[in-house]
Amino acid sequence: MRFCCLSGNGRIVEANVCKRFLGVKAGVINCELNMSKPFDIELEKLTGQASYSAAVHGSGSGRRGTFFLETFGCQMNDHDSEKVAGLLLSRGYQQVETPEAASLILYNTCSIREKAAQKVFSRLGEYREKQGEGKVIGVLGCVAQQEGEDIFRRAPWVSLVCGSASYSKLPGMLAQLEAGKQRITGLDTDTDETFETEVTRRDNPWRAYLTIIEGCDKACSYCVVPYTRGPERSRASDSILREVRQLAELGYSEVQLLGQTVNSYADPTARKMRFSELLLAVAEVQGIRRVRFTTSHPSDFTPDIVKAIEREPKICDHVHLPVQSGSTRVLHAMQRTYSRGEYLEKITMIREASRPIGITTDIIVGFPGETESEFEETLSLLEEVQYDSMYSFKYSPRPNTPSLAMSDSIPEQEKSRRLAVLQDRQREIQERKHASLVGTLFEVLVSGKSRRDNQWSGYTTSHRMINFASQERELLGTYVQVRVTGAGPNNLLGEYAV
Ligand code: 5AD
Ligand code: SF4
Repeated sequence: MRFCCLSGNGRIVEANVCKRFLGVKAGVINCELNMSKPFDIELEKLTGQASYSAAVHGSGSGRRGTFFLETFGCQMNDHDSEKVAGLLLSRGYQQVETPEAASLILYNTCSIREKAAQKVFSRLGEYREKQGEGKVIGVLGCVAQQEGEDIFRRAPWVSLVCGSASYSKLPGMLAQLEAGKQRITGLDTDTDETFETEVTRRDNPWRAYLTIIEGCDKACSYCVVPYTRGPERSRASDSILREVRQLAELGYSEVQLLGQTVNSYADPTARKMRFSELLLAVAEVQGIRRVRFTTSHPSDFTPDIVKAIEREPKICDHVHLPVQSGSTRVLHAMQRTYSRGEYLEKITMIREASRPIGITTDIIVGFPGETESEFEETLSLLEEVQYDSMYSFKYSPRPNTPSLAMSDSIPEQEKSRRLAVLQDRQREIQERKHASLVGTLFEVLVSGKSRRDNQWSGYTTSHRMINFASQERELLGTYVQVRVTGAGPNNLLGEYAV
């Protein structure tokens, strides 16, 4: 069976760190991350599961077409794409690196802000003539769910529109298109299914992502996610743990548990594992060295999660806890279910942990009716919390959301000003924090190699990026000790210490 190792950058990765496609077993294959150099792998040797072989070779359908899959948006989308790719590979499709080489072009889309959604239609426009060349064009993800059949009107060259809650039906939908059907949609969100696949084609060779909860039951007034991803569905704890064990066997040592509100996890099995118990159980799996999780909702961030981090060093000392605004009035209008004071109580609880825990956040500026003094409350919250990093956005009105009915009262220019002020303030905080880390020793999982000689990069457990120099021949995928020697606002500089 021939598979190609995909990457946009054509970087060469040594055998001991290449685990692309199902996690190619460490030390087995020398792989050039370039489509022009395919390589052979026998799937069942790598996975120990004959079912993969049956799915790929013997499903009766034989070799299918080629697909190109492009992804916009969040980590959940990236990971959904990994699963969609795995599903298609297991059905005999081959993944290619350019739309030109593909018979099936898929876009996994994001609609969280208007700009992201607009990007999808301009990109689709670029592929208008491809349909004439006999290619099938499909739109997946949040824009698909949100716009539904309207996509066929705006881009009549599209044949497939499928939201994330319907991905498991993709092979059937593609079969119908192959059988001559002109257009097909998968738009149900009314499901208790989670999207689990036998085969996931993982993009990151060191960190494996796992969705443990899909959809969202919160109802933040600005947010499309409850409409585009449907209601909350948690995956069974035994299935999660089985996959983690498989990942560890394949050589992954870091796993990141994903969910829009990952800490709202509610085990549907009789075990009824709490989120904190699941974190501990994942950390116990032999071979796992780091457990990350994102995104946490402040209302569901309970003391047992901090206790689990305190107790188990493998659970990373990093919490992404979006606050969105520092003003209780704005938080209420956003339907965020906590006040400024309640959020700060969670921060105190995290700061009081027996080992330091990095905290990062998301903030929206220019929410309808946000006054100057309410914006200043967000600035003062930044000073109070001293976040390690921040993602910040200008409010963007979205279809179907409750806040659409509110007047988008803050002019674009003022939103841009507030965003710039906020980012300046955070940059100063990060510069100060980073400077205070000079001299500190960190364990780093090396995940990047610069074109410049002897320059490497990687992440600490608290998700700080460090660039460092080392004469070692190969460090990718290994854990090393790095001492911080210098700092900028966005990353740290260091030297290899072991
Ligand atoms: N406008 C601006 N930012 C938004 N986010 C979600 N919806 C919107 C919106 N309508 C931001 C929030 C969320 C992050 C993923 O995106 O900060 O945490
Ligand atoms: Fe959107 Fe709020 Fe759910 Fe996050 S918690 S996905 S912001 S509705």
